[in-house]
Amino acid sequence: LAIAIFGTAGTTETGTIDPLEEMGRIAARHRIHFHVDAAWGGALIFSDKYRRLLDGIHHADTITLCPHKQLYVPQGISLCLFKDSQSVHASSVHSSYQGRHGSFDFGQYTLEGSRPAIFLCLHAMLCIVSKRGIGALVEGGIEKARFMADVIEEHPAFQLIGAPEINILNYRYVPRHLRHKSSHSLEENRVISEVVTRIQERQFLRGKTFVSRTEILSARHCDERITVFRVVIANPLTTHQDLRDTLADQLEIAAETETHVERVSS
Ligand SMILES: Cc1ncc(COP(=O)(O)O)c(C=O)c1O
Repeated sequence: LAIAIFGTAGTTETGTIDPLEEMGRIAARHRIHFHVDAAWGGALIFSDKYRRLLDGIHHADTITLCPHKQLYVPQGISLCLFKDSQSVHASSVHSSYQGRHGSFDFGQYTLEGSRPAIFLCLHAMLCIVSKRGIGALVEGGIEKARFMADVIEEHPAFQLIGAPEINILNYRYVPRHLRHKSSHSLEENRVISEVVTRIQERQFLRGKTFVSRTEILSARHCDERITVFRVVIANPLTTHQDLRDTLADQLEIAAETETHVERVSS
């Protein structure tokens, strides 16, 4: 028995957006709840250019949005939007001194038991930066991610793992002896994952540039979990040169570790 379908608009690891229109239609056909986790991608709604990536989100019964991600407010501002305002009553917390059954206290429907004032930050953001400003921030992130993806694709040492859909992109460094192959074996993918981990750790310790890393299950890579670099471009002050410098930094570190690579793969 299926009671709900969950779609993600911008996954944490890769920024991928599920086919929301199709999922929404399936949910409607079977009269089941449709939830969209738009923690990352929800802010696309503010961009005239990229709003279409969220096509189908109007089918959602509930939507998660994390303004502390793409709406640039401090950590801890997450919301769940309900299409039917009465649905909020599905879960509540009561006590004898506040939020009593039948009271009008909205706190009974929040995790905190009150309405946190931190939401003023979101209100201020929307008023000060405005829809147009947020749209520009979101668009800037996506365009820079695409620029970085192009640079990665042009360089033989790097392998892009899918074109970025939003401002999150994944790629990996491939040691010299494993380049120019259309696919890699399980063992080769493990070697590449080790090298990626090593480069990312050293890059963090050097402190000059930083990208995060993660593991993804990839059908293209022997259905294995592979370790990839994960870049999230959010700072509007990041320049194209910063992105090139980040890759140059990784190449420098890779050159230092290449001796180790030979040893790992033998
Ligand atoms: C897709 C997605 N959903 C939900 C969350 C949860 O957000 P938080 O716990 O930061 O409110 C995250 C956090 O990274 C996320 O990436």
